[in-house]
Amino acid sequence: KEPSMAIDFDAESGIGPKDPKKGELTTEEKALLGDIQGNILKSHGRDHSQHLFLKFDTTKANEARAWLVQLATKKVTSALKQWDESLTRAEIFEKSMKKQDPEAYRSDELAKKGSSIFINVMLSAKGYDALGLSSKKPKDATFCGGAAGAVSRLADPARKDWEAPYDTADLHALVIVADDDPGRVDAEAKAIAASLKGGTVVSTEVGKALRRGKNGPVHEHFGFVDGVSNPLFFAKDIPQKSDDIKRWNPGAGLNLALAKDPGGKATTGYGSFLVYRKLEQDINQFNKDRHELAKALAKEDQRTEPNHADWQLAGAYMVGRFPDGFPVSEKATPEGANNDIPNNFNFDADTKGLKCPFQSHIRKTNPRGDTTKLGETLKKERTHRISRRAISYEKKGKVGLLFLCVQKNIETQFEFMQKLWVNNPTFVQQNPRTGLDPLIGQGTPESQQWPAKYGSEKKIPLSLQQSVHMRGGEYFFLPSMSCLMSMA
Ligand code: HEM
Repeated sequence: KEPSMAIDFDAESGIGPKDPKKGELTTEEKALLGDIQGNILKSHGRDHSQHLFLKFDTTKANEARAWLVQLATKKVTSALKQWDESLTRAEIFEKSMKKQDPEAYRSDELAKKGSSIFINVMLSAKGYDALGLSSKKPKDATFCGGAAGAVSRLADPARKDWEAPYDTADLHALVIVADDDPGRVDAEAKAIAASLKGGTVVSTEVGKALRRGKNGPVHEHFGFVDGVSNPLFFAKDIPQKSDDIKRWNPGAGLNLALAKDPGGKATTGYGSFLVYRKLEQDINQFNKDRHELAKALAKEDQRTEPNHADWQLAGAYMVGRFPDGFPVSEKATPEGANNDIPNNFNFDADTKGLKCPFQSHIRKTNPRGDTTKLGETLKKERTHRISRRAISYEKKGKVGLLFLCVQKNIETQFEFMQKLWVNNPTFVQQNPRTGLDPLIGQGTPESQQWPAKYGSEKKIPLSLQQSVHMRGGEYFFLPSMSCLMSMA
């Protein structure tokens, strides 16, 4: 147990009551959630956001610090506030579903009664220095080196080739403003920018969740349902029946996400490290690759042109899930529109990658026990998990993901995943080599092995090109509320 906190940070059964209608948060849980920012232990779940990247003026550090205290006091959403409002959001959601009016959930009614605008604020290592707050800065070396310091480790494009202003401007802070109503987001973002003292907004990115139908699941620009599998920190979100978590347990201890905040209160002061990467998606390249693979599958079946089933399977081999989210390790065809997307699965029955190739995006980023073959324990493997908080963007004809993930340690979580799993051509299998993750692998493309038929030993070697390009990024720390309030 953490000193002076009656919460076990390793327990994977989740915090809070199993049923919020019958139970409440404990006093310790309330104190902790009141001191950490929202969006760390659970996504804020809003469909629209603006990301304001700030640069502080070192000669006006006092003004900037006072401004941050104001922002924290008046606007930043704590995890406790997010918890309270999520209960109202859930109620409104239930009601609108009963009324067969899912849209009501995202209407003004929700915006006005259900929840306030969601706000996060975070600082980069350079941001702490610019504010004269080095004593409150986490000393972690990977964080302090920033995203620019990780370029060679992660095979990222050189910083001079990043998009402006990321190629030159230092990002000191990031403010995320999110809501279901884009108009409210815009007005709040403008108000925050206008109130800023001792700094300037160097870049604004606009995020928009893409949905299937009015209230359907979120998907990304390649057309696949996203945000399905994430670590779950609250007991109410974790399936309670042991059968439902037998093959994969999504539960996670707070230690996966929370890091002690050197600037916060001794007992409850925790924050989280956040990785931001602007990832542009080349839809033409992705579809070209997917078509090549579908064509090869058709050829195996003595057909010259791929049919819809080849096209579906090719995409599922690349991602590891069909566009509707159904895992390809479980079935050769998608399930069709369905709200219940399985996550209770692993690859134990597919040790040769005959159904879900080793290089597929979800098998690279969550091997679900594959690394135990290499002598790793499942417990250790699970410590590399990240909590994704990304949102799609579209700007001047370019599309992609404003990739965001939170974790306790960037080196052993995000960087470990990108470097030793995603980019590693000998990940899990040396002979034949696995190759890169076809979505986000960075490095020299090489042949990957694709099952010629679903479940067959025969493989088709085919090298897919990179269709996701990193355009800029930074590492941030989300300070505790107690740290933010004491910055002046
Ligand atoms: C899962 C797309 C970038 C890590 C997924 C899924 C999709 C997807 C469609 C399956 C749905 C789900 O389980 O939520 C993309 C796209 C990306 C991208 C289009 C870039 C534009 C990244 C990056 C990482 C990452 C940079 C980290 C290095 C993960 C993880 C999962 C996942 C951990 C969950 C795997 C699991 O638990 O089964 N992604 N992703 N993704 N992605 Fe990505």
